[in-house]
Amino acid sequence: MSEPRATRRVGIVGYGHLGQYLVRRLQDEGPRHGLELAFVWNRDLGKLAGMMPASLQLEDLDQADLIVEVSHPCVAQDHGESFLGSADFMVGSPTALADEATERRLRGAVERYGHTLYVPSGALWGGQDLQRMDQLGTLQALTVTMTKHPDSFRLEGRLVRGAGQGRRVLYEGPVRGLCPLAPNNVNTMAAACMAAPSLGFDGVKGCLIADPDLADWHLVEIEALGPGGFSVTSRRKNPAAQGAVTGAATFTAFWSSLLACRGHGGCVFLC
Ligand SMILES: NC(=O)c1ccc[n+]([C@@H]2O[C@H](COP(=O)([O-])OP(=O)(O)OC[C@H]3O[C@@H](n4cnc5c(N)ncnc54)[C@H](O)[C@@H]3O)[C@@H](O)[C@H]2O)c1
Repeated sequence: MSEPRATRRVGIVGYGHLGQYLVRRLQDEGPRHGLELAFVWNRDLGKLAGMMPASLQLEDLDQADLIVEVSHPCVAQDHGESFLGSADFMVGSPTALADEATERRLRGAVERYGHTLYVPSGALWGGQDLQRMDQLGTLQALTVTMTKHPDSFRLEGRLVRGAGQGRRVLYEGPVRGLCPLAPNNVNTMAAACMAAPSLGFDGVKGCLIADPDLADWHLVEIEALGPGGFSVTSRRKNPAAQGAVTGAATFTAFWSSLLACRGHGGCVFLC
């Protein structure tokens, strides 16, 4: 593993809502935090034209100490392993890890190359506490329920027909089965699965609800159960513009997560 540079160079993959926000904050405040923008990569290069000097468009992955994916789950599935070969990697779309082969490959790369796979907690409240319970072997059950306005969903497969008709439970069951059906909407559930690997994508339960009365926020409810009747429940109201997939608080949460990516060696780290 190469020696960390004094200034951490950050590559951003994806230049949509989150990517543009993170690039702006890196350019404005990065130096104060010992961070510098190394490159921006987007599938649609036209989106970068005029917005980004050519020098900041990707040439070589080795330019970065940290690569941040904020594009699409397929990027971690196709390139996550090679990202980890040269840098720490923050996977902004952790629903990608519901694919067993991807999770196995990325965990293997972490051990092989000694770089850190960072999973941003997103809207997951108490992630570190869940992680601690999981490590102690006391986390017996974990359920994450997410409720949003039907317009906030980007659904796939059999869920496409489910939204838009009154308050409805769209899915209830293991998070593994839900991630491919709502890849942009359940990253918080995927983060919970990574925080609690003893339960993982098959053991953590996800419940997705469409509620037309929920115009201005997203609801995230978490229930953790432990021995002897121990239980914790949290309920987070995330303000969100009508139809927005990403809640407003998620942008600042992502920036805080990025600031926590200081290089923790070969492990998976919830940030
Ligand atoms: N972890 C969380 O809590 C959390 C919260 C919100 C969003 N997300 C995820 O972060 C990602 C970005 O969210 P967003 O709101 O900025 O989305 P967005 O649609 O605004 O932007 C995505 C950008 O990535 C680009 N892109 C898509 N596929 C690509 C590819 N294969 N290679 C390179 N670029 C590609 C698109 O052209 C677009 O510019 C999504 O996958 C979303 O699900 C995660």
